[in-house]
Amino acid sequence: MINIGIIGCGHWGMNHIRVFSALEGARVKVCCDSDLSRLSMLHKAFPAIATTTDYGKVIGDKNIDAVIIATPTATHFKLVKEALYCGKHVLCEKPLTVREDEGACLREIARKGKRVLMVGYVFLYNNGIIALKEYIDTKKIGKVFYLHFTRTNLGPIRDDVDVIYDLASHDVAIATFLLGKWPLEASANAGFFLRKRIADTAFVTLRYPENVLVNIHASWLDPKKIRRLTCVGDKKMAVWDDMDMSEPIRIFDKGVVKEPFYSDYGEFHLLPREGEVVSPLVKLSEPLKKQDAYFLECVNNKKVPLTGADFGRRVTGALESIQRSVKNQGRAQKIR
Ligand SMILES: NC(=O)c1ccc[n+]([C@@H]2O[C@H](COP(=O)([O-])OP(=O)(O)OC[C@H]3O[C@@H](n4cnc5c(N)ncnc54)[C@H](O)[C@@H]3O)[C@@H](O)[C@H]2O)c1
Repeated sequence: MINIGIIGCGHWGMNHIRVFSALEGARVKVCCDSDLSRLSMLHKAFPAIATTTDYGKVIGDKNIDAVIIATPTATHFKLVKEALYCGKHVLCEKPLTVREDEGACLREIARKGKRVLMVGYVFLYNNGIIALKEYIDTKKIGKVFYLHFTRTNLGPIRDDVDVIYDLASHDVAIATFLLGKWPLEASANAGFFLRKRIADTAFVTLRYPENVLVNIHASWLDPKKIRRLTCVGDKKMAVWDDMDMSEPIRIFDKGVVKEPFYSDYGEFHLLPREGEVVSPLVKLSEPLKKQDAYFLECVNNKKVPLTGADFGRRVTGALESIQRSVKNQGRAQKIR
């Protein structure tokens, strides 16, 4: 049995409490939030769970094996570091840290202490994304030309980080997972409409090895909630729509064929090729449940998670390059 403590019981932390409370092999023993009103809400729903406003009581409790950190992003570095130093395994919400060097520091503390440090990039545990990866890995899409992400909604509007850290971070993680490679270069523009220093909307372009282009439109200032990815390859095209519960993935047997252009040998006609559209069966399951169960598996088997500390560090590295590009009027910036 893994005894769990959860720090941060806001919108997303409450989901972890619900999920871990129902998972076999885990017991949520204590939850912490600095806001007392969150704790009284929590107490109504889960009266058996102890509560505190002092996170030190969670990470200092020798009966707690693992800590879930679901506080605002700007607090992650300090809380994760202290929890690791107290010998806890940690599942931290995305993004791991604001700066890459902070992520590297956490990775080293976890490595030296032999603790699991995992980051909650939950879309990598989404069956639709996993099915799409299978299509890409088995070359059914062919050579991937580009990916295009739309991640918009009206809110939630953050105060500690901008839309790049909050929303585009998911898409950097998904693109890297799907392509199995890290981006080389970022260029981005952002809109600062509501406040001077926190971007509400961003248009990001990442260049991956082999000239694969990834475009991300992220916004918390948009009338419609969209979570969509278009993947264009030289054999097929695919669309993942996380809002479509019945058909999250559609594969379009469409492309462009080159036909010899006889009047001038060596030239080609480029002709659109239209084929059938299929919606592969994607088993419905809650990605957060899958992610949290996998965290327990990693703790039990001392496994390095797919979305471990180094993955989290590198996503943050890409986010920093995106930020640098925004500051430089969209000029391309190398990603280390
Ligand atoms: N994986 C996902 O899809 C997903 C979705 C939403 C949020 N998140 C991430 O989860 C984290 C929290 O987001 P949220 O939407 O739940 O935010 P939120 O503001 O609703 O909740 C954060 C909670 O943390 C509490 N808190 C802040 N500092 C604290 C401290 N030092 N000690 C104890 N409690 C503290 C606040 O009182 C608040 O209740 C963010 O990092 C966000 O990026 C991830």
